[in-house]
Amino acid sequence: MKSAIDKLHEISQKKTKTILGLMSGTSLDGLDIACCKIEGSGKDTKVSLLKYCTLPYPASFQDNIRRMVSASHTSLMDMTLLNVQIAQVHANLINTALKNWGMRKENIDVIASHGQTVFHAPVTLHQQKEMSNATLQLGDGDHIATTTGIITISDFRQKHVAHGGEGAPLVSYGDFLIFRNAELPRILLNIGGIANITYLPANCEFKEVIASDTGPGNCLMDAWIRKNYTEKQFDYNGELAATGKIVPELLHEWLQHHFFTTAFPKTTGTESFHLDFIESGITKCKLNNILPEDVLATLNLLTALTISDVIKKTMTQEEEFELFISGGGLYNKTLINQIIKQLPNGKISDSAHWPIHPDAKEAVLFALLANETLSGNEKTFDDNNQQPNISMGKICLPI
Ligand SMILES: Nc1ncnc2c1ncn2[C@@H]1O[C@H](COP(=O)(O)OP(=O)(O)O)[C@@H](O)[C@H]1O
Ligand SMILES: [Mg+2]
Repeated sequence: MKSAIDKLHEISQKKTKTILGLMSGTSLDGLDIACCKIEGSGKDTKVSLLKYCTLPYPASFQDNIRRMVSASHTSLMDMTLLNVQIAQVHANLINTALKNWGMRKENIDVIASHGQTVFHAPVTLHQQKEMSNATLQLGDGDHIATTTGIITISDFRQKHVAHGGEGAPLVSYGDFLIFRNAELPRILLNIGGIANITYLPANCEFKEVIASDTGPGNCLMDAWIRKNYTEKQFDYNGELAATGKIVPELLHEWLQHHFFTTAFPKTTGTESFHLDFIESGITKCKLNNILPEDVLATLNLLTALTISDVIKKTMTQEEEFELFISGGGLYNKTLINQIIKQLPNGKISDSAHWPIHPDAKEAVLFALLANETLSGNEKTFDDNNQQPNISMGKICLPI
């Protein structure tokens, strides 16, 4: 459609754009929506967060997705329907957020939609040497564009895979733009369902940035809570884990998983870290009468140790660094205390001093990727071993 293409061209030429970044991770708690004002492109990009919110997923919708992602087989019809359902739920949540903020679709230039990951299959998971890495996010961009009336850039991960990457983590570009620092190295740690880190050496160039998943974030603890404490969705502030005892042989058994010994950068998902992973460890250790809170305490420590282990390995020497933690795991005090204990050289940055609120960070990073796709200059960034210098996302027009 020529008028829509003209509009897209006009937006790409704008010095300052208003972009809605969306993020919905493996926790399936809801949709993070960040309304960003983004000026310029490349290393000169400036971003400010105008509004943000997380709108919870309806329970039946959560169940639908959970049923699909935890099944080893699923019907093609269910998957086809879910692709549309996710897009429609997301579009309706966007319309609600805009209404709550007193904004209209005309105030937004584009939406940057991550989609909902239903399967993440790097070669290390599928083990088929003749096949490449693969990952699948559902929530079709055309449906979002049509229901909101806003141009939507979706499906960012596919280009990364097409260039030989694993499709994740895609945060290194935005983390570099917002958080790079002349004096001290920085670690950006996001604890969602899966945890990932970005390492920014002091005064770094983009090619020096390292980004990797570390393994489970909240996903194992959440799965255990939903199975054993049916009235709860997660371990509020880590209070239950704090009442349990660590079971060393169980911790040791879980740590044998090959993901933890694979060199980084590496990525993973809830395909590897789910209830079966927890229960098969318990069975192998013959701990039939183990208390649920002891399992939870041990899962909490497993999560902290695997996160801090990757962080320690990114450091070239015993150096002081600043630690910026985001994602829902930030609120699990037991987990955070364990991580800090493992990292004596790390100084946690108080989120009050962050350039953007930690709860909005991931969604903002996708808005930045969309901005770069629309207006970036291909010469701006060097290739980075984890994030090649490419535009990402598919452009979906509302008409
Ligand atoms: N107050 C809290 N105490 C402990 N854990 C929390 C708290 N708030 C959120 N979480 C955890 O954070 C998860 C959501 O984190 P989020 O960053 O949204 O992950 P994702 O990106 O996978 O959606 C929840 O499922 C829960 O495990
Ligand atoms: Mg979430």
